[in-house]
Amino acid sequence: MTLPPLDAIPASVAAVTDYEPLARERMSAAAWAYFAGGAGDEWTRRENVAAFDRLPLRPRALRDLSTATTRTRLLGLDLAAPILLAPVAFQRMAHGDGEYATVHAAGALDTVAVVSTQASVDLADLAGLATRPLWFQLYIQPDRAFTAALVRRAEEAGYRALVVTVDAPATGMRWREQRAGFALPAGIEAVNLRGMRGLPPAPRDALLFGTPLAAAAPTWEAIGWLRGLTRLPILLKGIADAGDARRAIDAGADGIIVSNHGGRSLDGAAAAIDLLPPIADTVAGAVPLLMDGGVRRGTDVLRALALGAGAVLVGRPYIFALAAAGAVGVAHVLRLLRAELELAMALTGCPDIAAIDRSILAGRA
Ligand code: FNR
Repeated sequence: MTLPPLDAIPASVAAVTDYEPLARERMSAAAWAYFAGGAGDEWTRRENVAAFDRLPLRPRALRDLSTATTRTRLLGLDLAAPILLAPVAFQRMAHGDGEYATVHAAGALDTVAVVSTQASVDLADLAGLATRPLWFQLYIQPDRAFTAALVRRAEEAGYRALVVTVDAPATGMRWREQRAGFALPAGIEAVNLRGMRGLPPAPRDALLFGTPLAAAAPTWEAIGWLRGLTRLPILLKGIADAGDARRAIDAGADGIIVSNHGGRSLDGAAAAIDLLPPIADTVAGAVPLLMDGGVRRGTDVLRALALGAGAVLVGRPYIFALAAAGAVGVAHVLRLLRAELELAMALTGCPDIAAIDRSILAGRA
C-alpha cells in the first residue's frame, strides 16, 4: 500500500533528507528502487555523500554581512542561489504532476530546472508553463536525424542551454534495470523520444561489446557534430577527468558538469566532490564549472563552491520531496538548501558567492 502525496509540509521536515522516508511510503517498491538506487554495489552512490563529510570547514568571525547574497549569474541567467535541479527521468513515476511540479518550483525559487531527454511529459508543454528559463538535457541518440530534430524542438520551445550527458548511462542503466526487473508503469514513457528508430537486435552471444548499442555510442565526434548543429550553449555533464575537461573546452563546450551520474553509471568511480579539484584547476575559469552528486546540505554547496564549482545540481533530494509533496516539496528543498547555504556562508565569513574559496576548508589552506 502506498500513501497519497501530502498537501502540506510536515513540521518534521527540517532537512532535505527528511523527505526520504516520506517518499518511500508514497512509491511502489519498483519506483523506489529506480529513484533511490545506484549501479553495482552502490559504493559510488554512498561515497558521493560520505566524501562531503571529509571536508571540514573553518569558521570565521565578525565579517560584514550587511550586503550578503547568494545570487549568482550563470550563462547569462540570474539565479537566486547556485543550486539547480538536475535532470531526472520519468518524474511522473514519483508524483502525478511529475516534471510540471519540478519546473513550477524552480520558477518560484528563481533557479533553473534541467529537463531530461527521458522526461515523462512533453518538452514544449513544460516550456510553455515555465516562468523561468529551462535547460534541456540531451542524450545523443543512435538515430542522429532524430537527435537533430529533438535539438530543434528544444530550441523552438525556448530552452536556453543543452546539457549533454556523456557518462554513457544508457548502457549501464539498461543492465541494472534488467537485473531489478524494472519496467515503466503503464502510461509513463519517454514521450519526447516517441517515433525514434530503434536499434537492430544484438547478436545472440554478445554482451555489450559487439552490439549495435556499443557501435552507436557517441564519441567526441558527436560533440563536434552537435556544436555545428546549434547555437545554444552546450554543457557536458558527466566529465570526471581533467583531460576530458580540456578536450570538452577544445570541442567548444560552454560549460562542464562534474558528475558520476549520482552513482548510477560506473560503480567504483570516485565521489563527485573528490573528482572536482583537478578539473577546477584545469578549467581555471575558462567556462562555467558545475558539479552534482551527493549534495544534501547547504554546507555541501559551500564545499563544492570552495573547491571550484560555480554552482551545483541536486537530483534525488528534490525527487523525494516531489514524491512526498509535489511542487511544494520541491520548492521547499530549494528553500532549505538556500537557507543552509546562507547560514554556512555567514559562519565562514563569505558575504557572496565570489568570496567562497579553498580557505574556508580547514584541511586545505
Ligand atoms: C538521474 N540522472 C540523470 N541524468 C541525466 O543526465 N539524464 C537523466 O535522464 C537522468 N535520470 C536520472 C534518474 C534518476 C532516478 C536519478 C537518481 C538520476 C542523474 C542526475 O542528473 C544527477 O547527476 C544525480 O542525480 C546527482 O546525484 P544526487 O543529487 O542524486 O546524489
